[in-house]
Amino acid sequence: MYDFGEVIDRRGSDSTKWDYRATPNGPQRWDAANPEHGEDQVLAMWVADMDFRCAPGIIDAIKKRADHGIFGYSAASESFDKAVTQWFAKRHDWQIDREHIVRTAGVVPALHFAVRAFCQAGDKVLVQRPVYYPFFRAIKNGGCEIVSNDLIYVDGHYAMDFDDLERKCADPAVTLAILCSPHNPVGRIWTAAELTRFGEICSKHGVRVIADEIHGDLILPGQSFCPYGTLAPALSEAAIICTAATKTFNLAGLHLSNIVIANAADRALYKQTMVEVGMSPGLDPLALAGIEAAYRQGDDWLDAMLVYLDDNRRLFEDFCLTHLPGTVVSPLQGTYLIWVDFRSWQLTHEDLDALMLEEAKLYLDTGTLFGDLGSGFQRFNIACPRSILQKALDRLRQVAVARKIVPA
Ligand SMILES: Cc1ncc(COP(=O)(O)O)c(C=O)c1O
Repeated sequence: MYDFGEVIDRRGSDSTKWDYRATPNGPQRWDAANPEHGEDQVLAMWVADMDFRCAPGIIDAIKKRADHGIFGYSAASESFDKAVTQWFAKRHDWQIDREHIVRTAGVVPALHFAVRAFCQAGDKVLVQRPVYYPFFRAIKNGGCEIVSNDLIYVDGHYAMDFDDLERKCADPAVTLAILCSPHNPVGRIWTAAELTRFGEICSKHGVRVIADEIHGDLILPGQSFCPYGTLAPALSEAAIICTAATKTFNLAGLHLSNIVIANAADRALYKQTMVEVGMSPGLDPLALAGIEAAYRQGDDWLDAMLVYLDDNRRLFEDFCLTHLPGTVVSPLQGTYLIWVDFRSWQLTHEDLDALMLEEAKLYLDTGTLFGDLGSGFQRFNIACPRSILQKALDRLRQVAVARKIVPA
């Protein structure tokens, strides 16, 4: 019914992933004259969007809204909110009160607002590295300091370090914790027990929790996700929970997310901060149309996409096991971002990056973006047609053989 194997050329569509590369000053277009940019050359497996066409119902809804011809300031209707709340009730057994939703133009801006709303300059904000790197900027922009409760890593498996969490949260300067759930880049889905323990330690020390659940619908078959909002009320009602349809349905450019803040005083402070930093109260009408359609009609597409993605995961893991000895792939439970440990290849991190881009012609997210613990690691985005994934893996093997890192 949906052809996830179709290769859609995204080059020339102003795609950050395919037309640009990252620089310290933001994305910069690949030089069109640069031979690296040509057909069949650099394969983009970095930034987190998918190379799949989105569900037909979403495209139709956006076209219908576009046909109206006027794109004025817009707000979320009751029908939009109902689509959102029904989705979370149906998919995650999480009952959200419409009044608790605050809309922002993305989850990253939502994190910036939260740091500004709930921290004083000089406070410390806890994260669990290696972790999605824009968390660091949100903390620093709010004049705060990053404290990491580093994840424990054993043979590819990641776990939370609760003893360290307890110690870090005991510091009165730590006032906020940003939880990544499911976790980007390590691919873990935290269990209800882990989340409860995390939440209880934070709560005991008066540390407010922001749960970034943007990947919460990207749960591979056989896995289950526990939204923070379904934990005991003492935890869930004190948290700021970031949700979005943008990762789920490949709508990242539509920039609209739903932030759930149950506590009325926190919500008021958060909204006031948004106004103070200049966030426009108007929403994007095309985003409203597309996201409402996604939440109303997107189940089948999402379920089919997750099955396809799981086959990509299997291909990736099997290939590494068989053809790239020494690599350690963290088991992917959720997200489409797969985290690979290349340390046994005994390259410097710079040489590993060069091998990926200049020799294998793969553009990835380099591990050190996520913190020093990512040295020797790379993050692959596997939400692409299988033929592209296979091509990427074959290239990597060819280079590793040529370099005599793995046997021919
Ligand atoms: C954990 C996490 N949070 C937020 C985002 C981006 O959110 P947005 O595009 O809504 O700002 C991403 C994108 O990769 C992500 O992985």
